[in-house]
Amino acid sequence: MRTSGLASRHRGRESGGGDRYPPDDPRSGRGPVASATGEPPGLVPWGAGGLRGISVGEKPPGVPQMTGRGPVDPLRWFALLLAGLLASVITASTASAQTPVPDAQHFFPKADLMKIGVYYYPEQWPASQWERDLGKIAELGFEFTHFGEFAWGFLEPSEGKFDFAWLDRAVDLAAKNGLKVILCTPTPCPPAWMGEKYPEIYLVGSDGRRREHGTRANGSLANAVFVKYTKRIVAELGRRYGQDPRVWGWQLDNEPLAPADYSPSARSKFQAWLERKYGTVEKMNAAWGGNFWSTKYDAFPQVLVPNEALTGEDALSPHALLDFRRFTADTQADYLHLQRDILREHIRPEQWVTTNYINVTDTADPRRTDRLDFLSFTMYPVRGEKNLGELGFRLGSPYRLAFAVDYYRSFKGVTGVMELQPGQVNWARINPQPEPGAIRMWLWHAFAGGLSFACTYRYRQPLYGSELYHAGIVGPDGVTPSRGGLEFVRVIAEMKELRKLYDPAAKMPERVAARRTAFLWSHDVMWDLDIHKQTALWDTWDHRFKMMAAVKAAGAPLDYIGEDDDFSAYPFLVAPAYQLVDEVLVQKWTRYIEGGGHLVLTCRTGQKTKSGQLPEAPWAGLVAPLIGAEVELFDNLLDDGRGLVRMKGRGYGWNRWADVLKPLPGTETLAVYTDQFYAGKPAVVIRKLGRGTVTYIGADTIEGGLERDVLREVYARAGVDAVNYPPGVYVEWRDGFFVGVNYSSRPFAVPVKPGAKVVLGSNPLRPAGVLIWREY
Ligand code: GAL
Repeated sequence: MRTSGLASRHRGRESGGGDRYPPDDPRSGRGPVASATGEPPGLVPWGAGGLRGISVGEKPPGVPQMTGRGPVDPLRWFALLLAGLLASVITASTASAQTPVPDAQHFFPKADLMKIGVYYYPEQWPASQWERDLGKIAELGFEFTHFGEFAWGFLEPSEGKFDFAWLDRAVDLAAKNGLKVILCTPTPCPPAWMGEKYPEIYLVGSDGRRREHGTRANGSLANAVFVKYTKRIVAELGRRYGQDPRVWGWQLDNEPLAPADYSPSARSKFQAWLERKYGTVEKMNAAWGGNFWSTKYDAFPQVLVPNEALTGEDALSPHALLDFRRFTADTQADYLHLQRDILREHIRPEQWVTTNYINVTDTADPRRTDRLDFLSFTMYPVRGEKNLGELGFRLGSPYRLAFAVDYYRSFKGVTGVMELQPGQVNWARINPQPEPGAIRMWLWHAFAGGLSFACTYRYRQPLYGSELYHAGIVGPDGVTPSRGGLEFVRVIAEMKELRKLYDPAAKMPERVAARRTAFLWSHDVMWDLDIHKQTALWDTWDHRFKMMAAVKAAGAPLDYIGEDDDFSAYPFLVAPAYQLVDEVLVQKWTRYIEGGGHLVLTCRTGQKTKSGQLPEAPWAGLVAPLIGAEVELFDNLLDDGRGLVRMKGRGYGWNRWADVLKPLPGTETLAVYTDQFYAGKPAVVIRKLGRGTVTYIGADTIEGGLERDVLREVYARAGVDAVNYPPGVYVEWRDGFFVGVNYSSRPFAVPVKPGAKVVLGSNPLRPAGVLIWREY
């Protein structure tokens, strides 16, 4: 983790990556990997060699400006003038907040499959090198570039004075080289003049100290002055480039984090938010448990921002903390929506608006920004952690990208990775080189997940600044491609070949579609679990990742949905540790199951109401009738403790959480605890209800093996043909192509239908390998 304030911002938490399996377990990655189904033989001796994959200033509306930085061709000048005039006509007729915006899908023609681009920061390099650099970016095959996200100090060098000449020229050069441009709003980096004049624009940390100039992401999103300047720069940018056909789309801010803010501005906004939510202070006191330790308030203006850093051993109200998380996420979402709305007043419908969330966002809640055209994310899989097997630290987290592609795609059916690691980074505790081939594998994994574009941070390795050691597509000399750069170039060429095979009529094979699974995701639930873990060992991301891996191991297409979405579109629905429930949700689950759906719940589900309180009922009473079992008790073991669950003769260790179940008549026990004082009592139960089933997995196991095997059982009982990929192997279907990637340290023979045509790579799939095939 970074030690700077940005550490948590960027990296979220790593969960569950580690070397999860004991050395003698086939899943450890240290022994041979078993085949998924036995067809064809999947056992490849470790170290079997030879398994390398084989690869198949047009100016914005108005008058063009001379930058004075390079010669201007008079003919070109005239053409630009004409284009500018035309554009103004278009502006007048089309720009309006009401302009209908195409569905997210329409921004990205399907036949392009996945476009690949790269960040370039003109303001960080001598203007004399831009032409060479953008020319080389195009020559390497990149299709778009990305400008401006941290450039506020250059776009508004002094209050109210704007300078777009440099950006005009950069956009010109990009276009001249056939590169589309993603423009960014520069709001992570308020200029020095702003902080000097209005120090209140900075957010205040939980230590009570105001942030200062000298880094980024330091503005208070609750502060009216900061918001005022944000509005102005966003509007100026929208006016300048909103009708420019060379601008492909917009990224708002950078990695919006929803930082906790303890400033006076945040406090008064929080009070107003609470008043809107509760109406009366009595209602808020009731929701926060104000009778406990006399923590109640007499009026909203008394309310403090709950600050855990200022408390001693005794904790704050978890309900107040939960509301503060919600408020903070809402404030972040409002800030992004505000920028989006301003841009939409000025930009053409063909330009899209997104933001680039970090891949696992603890604090910002992407679901809250539903007015953006789609959501994208940033991805750095190698971050100084062990992951699977001995190569895991170079292959990267086997979970993050697998999660992010599905999670972000689920919002609007479209997503892209805005930053994908091009090599070593500078910010992890230890910064290893990625395994040769790993970057290529991530790119193809991104493709497999349905992404419309992949962009990498950054083109040039910086020569100064805090990211000095960060790799680029080219090295410090500015021209020589890095190892990662060459992997990008290779994939760009491969993608161009694959486009030739694109078949618009391709349909997902029925046996794959039959496994379609939805994952019920809620940030509120995650916050509540994290605020009050009950055992320090509890790890919500790890728990969710294990369930995700269990679904993916079965080869199931996965979408992430929310409580308001239609469950019935999916034959299977998993809702891990879904702690906060109400009657409405329980009834929706019930109707889903009765109608033929298969619901899988895990430990901690249904313990609390939506405000995070316990209902006056037996433990987990809100879901007990649904799962057909009482939760007699729950247990947590010590760090080195190991409890055992047994299912079909197989043992699974646990130590974080165990719900001990007492089935009601008609409920079947699938697994039992074999030790502790509750030995013999059920750990997993399943029950039929109407045309569907509900399964409850009471234990969070260390390696996630129980979760995998129970899910397989659920698929099998539903008559669905599930596969069984080992940890770290992902196989997806997209646009007629099956794509397999391997984050494990062992080769794996992917079961491929007889007669299928391999179009890229080779089988068995080596670590960091890619295999693409079609079944026709
Ligand atoms: C990202 C961030 C980029 C850059 C990158 C370095 O999280 O959005 O601006 O700092 O990390 O790896």
